[in-house]
Amino acid sequence: VITGASSGLGQALARHYLKLGFTVAMIARRGDLLQPLGKEFPGQSLCYPLDVRDSSSMQLAASDLMARVGIPDVVIANAGVSVGTLTEHSEDIEYIQQIMDTNVLGVAKTFQPFISPMRSAHKGTLVGIASIAGFRGLPGAGAYSASKAAAISYLESLRVELRDSGINVVTICPGYIRTPMTAPNPYRMPFILESADAARRIARAIDRQTAYAVIPWQMAFVGFVLRHMPRPLYDALLATAQRKPRASPSRPQHDTEPPSHRQSRHASEK
Ligand SMILES: NC(=O)c1ccc[n+]([C@@H]2O[C@H](COP(=O)([O-])OP(=O)(O)OC[C@H]3O[C@@H](n4cnc5c(N)ncnc54)[C@H](OP(=O)(O)O)[C@@H]3O)[C@@H](O)[C@H]2O)c1
Repeated sequence: VITGASSGLGQALARHYLKLGFTVAMIARRGDLLQPLGKEFPGQSLCYPLDVRDSSSMQLAASDLMARVGIPDVVIANAGVSVGTLTEHSEDIEYIQQIMDTNVLGVAKTFQPFISPMRSAHKGTLVGIASIAGFRGLPGAGAYSASKAAAISYLESLRVELRDSGINVVTICPGYIRTPMTAPNPYRMPFILESADAARRIARAIDRQTAYAVIPWQMAFVGFVLRHMPRPLYDALLATAQRKPRASPSRPQHDTEPPSHRQSRHASEK
């Protein structure tokens, strides 16, 4: 099960597992963007056009897919949104809410329906896609950084809660990946990965049941330095760093919720 399979990393992960012959349940709001992959791998995919913030849609989809193909081996909570936010602008509050709802609550809502069945079966892997942006508060991206920091802590809690249940919890912290999410970034993105390469590395970490992985490894080093940098130095270095652009009516963000996405749709099989 992969959320956010209509674009970027989620689509690359779906393609990776489909190529290996797995049955993949793909979830995203834009059902039309899920369909081409489904057509390319006929009989191997289930498509659920829904919003991960809507727990009843997520529960319906989970029941439907478990009735069709059984308890999933792996559930990847990958759906996420990112846009620059500045708290002084009242219009950014809505974006802050969308980011927290999707990147934090969306992960819990994705996993929730699968935990009891996986516990009964004493097997399964829950994967959360966090980010190195959760290591320190990035200026201009406070909501995104906070959401990923929350995701990292949440996934750690879940991992310990589910110890000895037979369910593994894998936390993935990617650095930069070339996807529509990073396309508007005006700054240099060191060690950026193509989405197919990132998907391969993430799948390897999942196969190994790694509890926690930073991808690529070079970003683990950057992350270590970031995490341990003294606060005054961090503040001085980051104060002038280029920032993620804010959403604006003249430059709509594809990755936050456009008005046409506000209604969740029913799950459908393809
Ligand atoms: N790209 C990077 O450098 C990078 C680095 C670290 C972490 N990440 C994380 O990796 C994940 C994938 O990001 P990406 O770069 O592949 O971005 P992307 O190309 O913008 O894809 C985001 C995906 O999430 C889905 N999504 C967003 N909100 C949703 C919602 N409410 N319900 C269901 N699906 C939703 C989108 O589908 P719909 O719009 O069709 O719903 C889309 O498929 C995110 O969690 C992101 O934070 C990315």
